[in-house]
Amino acid sequence: MATKSMATQSPPWWEGCVIYQLMPRSFADADGDGIGDLAGITSKLPYLEWLGVDAIWLTPIYPSPLKDGGYDITDFTAIHPDLGDLDDLVVLLEQAHSHGIRVILDLVLNHTSVLHPWFQRARWAGKGSSERDFYVWRDDDHSYAEAPVLFCHFEQSNWEWDEVAGQYYLHRFLRHQPDLNYDNPAVQEAMLAVVDFWLAKGIDGFRLDAVPFLFEQEGTRCEGLPQTHAFLKRLRARVEACDRDVLLIAEAIQPVHESAPYLADDELHAAFNFALTANLFASLAHGQAKELRNCLTHAQAMVPGCRWALPLRNHDELWLGDGHLVADDVIQTVLAGFPTAQGHWLNWGINRRLAPLLNGDPRPNTLLHGLLYSLPGLPCLYYGDELGMGDWPGLRDRDTNRTPMAWTGERNGGFSTAPDPLLVLPPITAPGYDYRVVNVAVQQQLSGSLINWHHRMLTSRRLLPALRHGAFQLLESHHPSVLCYARTSASMTLVVAANLAATGASTHLDLGDWSGSRVREVLAGCEFPPASDAWFVYLPAYGFFWWLVGEEGCAEDNS
Ligand code: GLC
Repeated sequence: MATKSMATQSPPWWEGCVIYQLMPRSFADADGDGIGDLAGITSKLPYLEWLGVDAIWLTPIYPSPLKDGGYDITDFTAIHPDLGDLDDLVVLLEQAHSHGIRVILDLVLNHTSVLHPWFQRARWAGKGSSERDFYVWRDDDHSYAEAPVLFCHFEQSNWEWDEVAGQYYLHRFLRHQPDLNYDNPAVQEAMLAVVDFWLAKGIDGFRLDAVPFLFEQEGTRCEGLPQTHAFLKRLRARVEACDRDVLLIAEAIQPVHESAPYLADDELHAAFNFALTANLFASLAHGQAKELRNCLTHAQAMVPGCRWALPLRNHDELWLGDGHLVADDVIQTVLAGFPTAQGHWLNWGINRRLAPLLNGDPRPNTLLHGLLYSLPGLPCLYYGDELGMGDWPGLRDRDTNRTPMAWTGERNGGFSTAPDPLLVLPPITAPGYDYRVVNVAVQQQLSGSLINWHHRMLTSRRLLPALRHGAFQLLESHHPSVLCYARTSASMTLVVAANLAATGASTHLDLGDWSGSRVREVLAGCEFPPASDAWFVYLPAYGFFWWLVGEEGCAEDNS
């Protein structure tokens, strides 16, 4: 990876980092108005440091009419008044850094809100004027017919008629979100100026929302066009010009071979691997490791190393797609394997949080996170999933997955002191997930809780450089349900085996490369027999192990 840090021989801060995604409006409310805010996030930094995450990703914090959870922006260089102001952001940044935590902002390049002054100016300005040219207009709605409608539960077309302009405008998402016209150099400059603004504020990274859709071209799906990559390279150069390592991470819901080009050395540093996420759920659904192995092999062949960011869940639906992201049989496998998904299909996937999707079973939950924390790349943990927090089906759109964080058993889960009707969204009270039981304070006191499990896993991960940046090698197992791989850095080898099935599995693993070496399990600290080429092991249902193999010096390394 060509980065400034490589030149100075120190790895960039994001190498192997664990990213914690949070919804600022639902995380913690410091001023008691019922809506989470930046000061609330600042107050929870000690918790995040304890948990062991390296960075927080804030979903959009900009002024917005909130037709799409803040992804419909009216001012790219200000803070939504509900959340605080720029001074609050500076405090959050300073405090986060003092806790060893970096701050990543969501940057929505593709579109604005219809209420953005650029759009209002465009619709009132004359046809063909430079103001009108900030967005994509047509006299009819026939263009780009091959571009799928992304929010297919809410929209039937990518075009919307505007009475004032007397033309149709393009919107790949909601009609409230007109697409910017990147063919116009002034648009490119305006968005690069937005990047400069936040760089000057000291932001550590950007999650680039919906990057594939910046440019359009007739006869294509209008995704990941060469012009889009050219613009992203300009953006990278802009970020490189600043005197710090700033992470650029792509949200491109595309198959691996289509997302890999974003990871060209002069383009973005990381990209989410949504195909891998879908395959993780499919492998759990049918208890087979083969497809997951293929998917990992493919991703590593396309972009070796640790540049794929891996979420289990996020603030959207669990994307499976329309047969483009992953094959239809993967989608069908997931749907058949998770009865809890029934009736929860929205747009392109399953609109549920992790714990309820897994029917509250902690075993597949820890298995998935055990994989997340040990596969090569950047693990992304969604707020509340460290608790096994529930969801609220029936809330508008994806709000189902965006309810307030459960901090304590007190009123509103300790999220806010506001009266109930003022809360941004209702705290979870569903049986089995009630905030009076499932909350941070209670779980911190129970040594066997999920939250303490995450704390231990993330603490272990910190001490294991092989997991942060080690090479990745799939190993042979003789059981179809067992996935096995090694992560190796200069000072250590870590072998992981995971049983994806709901029944126990005994198998032989090929640890021939380390024959005769000592094997010690990391989390329980217990000794296993020395490694061999037919090394017998038993894995309980959904069980997994992290073993240090050939342990001698396990000191920190940065190789
Ligand atoms: C991304 C976001 C999603 C948003 C969409 C439009 O996919 O994750 O929440 O609705 O972009 O901005």
